Amino acid sequence: MAFSLFSCLLFASVVTMISSFAAEAAIKKYQFDVVVKNVSRLSHPKPIVTVNGRFPGPTIYAREGDRVVVNVTNHAQYNLSIHWHGLKQFRNGWADGPAYITQCPIQSGNSYSYDFNVTGQRGTLWWHAHILWLRATVHGAIVIMPKQGVPFPFPQPHGESVLVLGEWWNSDVEELVKQGNALGLPPNMSDAHTINGKPGPLFPCSDKHTFVTEVEWGKTYLLRIVNAALNDELFFAIAGHNMTVVEIDAVYCKPFTTSAILITPGQTTNVLVTANQAPGRYFMAARDFNDAPIPVDNKTATAILQYKGVPDTVIPVLPQLPAQNDTSFVDTYSNSLRSLNTPQFPANVPLTIDRHLFFTVGLGRDPCPTCLNSTKLTASINNVTFVMPKIGLLQAHYFNINGVFKLDFPDKPPAPFNYTGAPLTANLGTSLGTRLSKLAFNSTVELVLQDTNLLTVESHPFHLHGFNFFVVGRGVGNFDPAKDLAKFNLVDPPERNTVGVPTGGWTAIRFRADNPGVWFMHCHLELHTMWGLKMAFVVENGNGPDQSILPPPNDLPPC
Ligand code: C2O
Repeated sequence: MAFSLFSCLLFASVVTMISSFAAEAAIKKYQFDVVVKNVSRLSHPKPIVTVNGRFPGPTIYAREGDRVVVNVTNHAQYNLSIHWHGLKQFRNGWADGPAYITQCPIQSGNSYSYDFNVTGQRGTLWWHAHILWLRATVHGAIVIMPKQGVPFPFPQPHGESVLVLGEWWNSDVEELVKQGNALGLPPNMSDAHTINGKPGPLFPCSDKHTFVTEVEWGKTYLLRIVNAALNDELFFAIAGHNMTVVEIDAVYCKPFTTSAILITPGQTTNVLVTANQAPGRYFMAARDFNDAPIPVDNKTATAILQYKGVPDTVIPVLPQLPAQNDTSFVDTYSNSLRSLNTPQFPANVPLTIDRHLFFTVGLGRDPCPTCLNSTKLTASINNVTFVMPKIGLLQAHYFNINGVFKLDFPDKPPAPFNYTGAPLTANLGTSLGTRLSKLAFNSTVELVLQDTNLLTVESHPFHLHGFNFFVVGRGVGNFDPAKDLAKFNLVDPPERNTVGVPTGGWTAIRFRADNPGVWFMHCHLELHTMWGLKMAFVVENGNGPDQSILPPPNDLPPC
């Protein structure tokens, strides 16, 4: 079955959009019904939690400057909330969505309207459930078009297609997670990777579950790629075709051509592809990148790029993906990412820094008498394993409710050590706590995220809510200010909302704390988030008239 790119786009918008595009800033209204639906992929139909019965869920279409109102009605058995990943939500954390951080979850049978403006952003982002592991099936893309009459800073593509990369489990994900936690171990790996909810023909019995996108010879297309997988950083490539990367995390970048991209959970990447090869059918494929000493996930999801007029009987070819542990490909790729940095789209990198933070991130083991090895896996930042509160932190902050959190998250680890040296089996004194870090309004922050080898080195895609940041540096081993600071890119570093901390290495980011509120920061591998690899910032109000947190909406869910 072949979809034309354009009719696919139109189809999606007709189905999901209540209002239509207008010439000026408009209100885009959506109704999201969270329902349980039987869906079959590799095995028997199984009930999954979905939005509007679709997997992936509907794409949100908006234009820069629009106001978006999404009324979410929860008909599922789980209480949940939805996060609009990468939307800055200026002064408006109430619409951000992480459960117990900016809101209490929407209880079964209740509704909440996420009401937000899309200001100063255009490109591809995504939305997902932000509680438990429900985002496995509750997610979808957000497409933000430039303002009417404002062209892309690259040639206008002939058509476009959204590709949401995901993971599929044959059994109930929440049950698997419960079982894993009871044993103190990770739950079973997913059974398939998916592209737009479909695993492709490399998986048994999944011939009909293949996403196909049709192209015309000689034309150029924009692919909007989202990594909605729970735990896998992915390589993505198209057989026979190079891609030109033009945007990451809804920020334009300097275009560069590559045979494959790396995309971590949480990230989005827009690429241009020209259909200039022999007319045929070409696989697009996604597979795990993993250069850590942990089990590798070998599964490859495929979809098909099909030239118009080519019959479905033609057998597609597979692309050459980088080797699964190809660290050097990832280094080269990451170093190719640069902000566009033009007068129209400047890179406003903070050059002077008010606050220096150094966070060690890593995994560990805690005693657990009832678990399989009498230990359970855990994770921490600066030796703090984050404990989720019982009410939303943003309410606690806004209404001055005492006893919910402390504002003493450490700026650096308790003691320096050889972070990425031989695995440390010693107990470093990890503590539990709902500890937040306070940032002065409009202060500039530099944060170095340092991977550790407490248990094992591993790559961690970190996501900061409420902001974009600039990735000014990355490297292997221990961050060394004496030699690494001089190598920072302060001219055109990539600007994004999610960045991979390399396995056994570090990443340095800079941002301006100009958005008052409570903002979550966490590893976007659900496994690690669940184990405690998370914390939150409290950004204080400023003194100006538009520098305070907005009052909460009336329908904010109670706990
Ligand atoms: Cu995409 Cu806090 O998440």
